[in-house]
Amino acid sequence: MKIYVPGDSAAISVGADDVAAAIAQKVSGATIIRNGSRGALWLEPMVEVETDKGRVAYGPVNVEDIDSLIAADFINGGAHKLSLGESEKIEWLASQDRVTFKRVGIIDPLSLSDYEAHGGLVGLRRAISLSTEAIIEEVKESGVRGRGGAGFPAGIKWKTVADAVSDQKYICCNADEGDSGTFADRMLIEGDPYTLIEGMTIAAIAVGATEGIVYLRSEYPYAIKTLQKAIDIAHAFGWLGSSVLGSKHAFELKIRVGAGSYVCGEETAMLESIEGKRGVVRAKPPLPALEGLFGKPTVINNVLTLSTIPAVLADGAPAYKARGVGRSLGTQVFQLAGNIKRGGIVEKPFGISIEEIVNGYGGGTLSGAPLRAVQVGGPLGAYFGTDKFETSLDYESMLAAGGMLGHGGVVVFDDSVDLAQQARFAMAFCALESCGKCTPCRIGSTRGVETIDLIIQGVKVDENKKLLLDLCEVMTDGSLCAMGGLTPMPVKSAMINFPEDFTGEVSRR
Ligand SMILES: Cc1cc2nc3c(=O)[nH]c(=O)nc-3n(C[C@H](O)[C@H](O)[C@H](O)COP(=O)(O)O)c2cc1C
Ligand code: SF4
Repeated sequence: MKIYVPGDSAAISVGADDVAAAIAQKVSGATIIRNGSRGALWLEPMVEVETDKGRVAYGPVNVEDIDSLIAADFINGGAHKLSLGESEKIEWLASQDRVTFKRVGIIDPLSLSDYEAHGGLVGLRRAISLSTEAIIEEVKESGVRGRGGAGFPAGIKWKTVADAVSDQKYICCNADEGDSGTFADRMLIEGDPYTLIEGMTIAAIAVGATEGIVYLRSEYPYAIKTLQKAIDIAHAFGWLGSSVLGSKHAFELKIRVGAGSYVCGEETAMLESIEGKRGVVRAKPPLPALEGLFGKPTVINNVLTLSTIPAVLADGAPAYKARGVGRSLGTQVFQLAGNIKRGGIVEKPFGISIEEIVNGYGGGTLSGAPLRAVQVGGPLGAYFGTDKFETSLDYESMLAAGGMLGHGGVVVFDDSVDLAQQARFAMAFCALESCGKCTPCRIGSTRGVETIDLIIQGVKVDENKKLLLDLCEVMTDGSLCAMGGLTPMPVKSAMINFPEDFTGEVSRR
């Protein structure tokens, strides 16, 4: 009898380890599988049992619920106050369109046979049978864009690296995931690590790289452990190493653990950090695709970008690009966080509205107070009010609305939020995380905090608002990287969309 209790760190944080231990102790003959989370975080720990009619779910389960679950015959899907019904029919999950996350929460993360039984390695095997040009053509044709924030087409980046002549090339996976309210990279790595390894191996074959590095943040100890085990198993299986699945291609993969700096998620600072130096941004050009890690041509992609590639190779570009809108093709993994009733992972084709994500899937605020603002795209993303909720979540529409999609994080605030304080936070965050290389960011962010403080205190409000906008312009135009360049986005969007919070009068609340 199989019982699934997520080993995902979000589930563990609300007691999944204790629940697993209690079930192991009280239910004899149970095989407990520590799967990833399906992403419905308010239902964690969500326990599933395999029955004749498929998996049946219960949640959120506490240790105190185990006795009554046993009395209700939960191992055969018996009714209980925590019953959620058949897992595949839970509306919140069933209505999603999971491509990148299709196996997360379903498989045993470290079982290669489970991985293959659910379509794993099909993409890599196809890639091995193709020419490198054909692989890149398929990725280009699919329209897959970088999920780390900038949305740059993956195929074009790969082509640049493939065309570079060098004795050594690298694939670097950016798993620094520093954006506030984002957790998809972590959940993917903890719930389906082989998908990332497969995507990186395909990238390596496509561009002629033999070494890969995953830059993984130290704040993710479970992800580090899971990925290392997956790498070791893949190696023993003959997937990684001198002959990938018996082919002529070699690929070795290592993890490099970051040390908690936001700016080390910026790709060139990440390269410095991997090289053992302080995480300072490099000037571009040269592009990392031509002179990246240790000066060699390097593909840098986000976890979700690379983890989407196996599906593109397995199902073909036409199937992938059948989803989405305009130039934003395929699906986006949205991460719902903040003051939200149903937080978690929602994977849907690009083009879904903020309204559908936040009030539809998210169910509004957890506090029950009116929803006032969302911040989309991490700490450098824009704040929107409910009047912008019909905006389509795709790269171009978000840009047109004065925001960005970023890594897909959506953080929700109720009407207790003060947007002047949020704007101040953006500047303070930049001051704290700035690598210090360029003046507009290093000094500008500190001046920004001071100026917003004056506005909040009601000192020469109009004059200081004008000064703040001038400062934003200098930071946007004069910063070396997007850290300083994008910090004005949350500040200006707060000022434009919530002017009533910038009057200098004592807080509205
Ligand atoms: C300050 C800053 C922080 C960033 N943090 C991340 C991060 O944590 N993860 C990530 O994938 N990209 C991050 N990026 C974007 C990367 O520089 C880069 O564009 C990305 O890793 C490329 O991969 P992609 O094309 O697959 O998106 C950050 C950029 C900036 C400016
Ligand atoms: S914008 Fe900020 S983080 Fe980027 S290079 Fe300049 S000082 Fe460093």
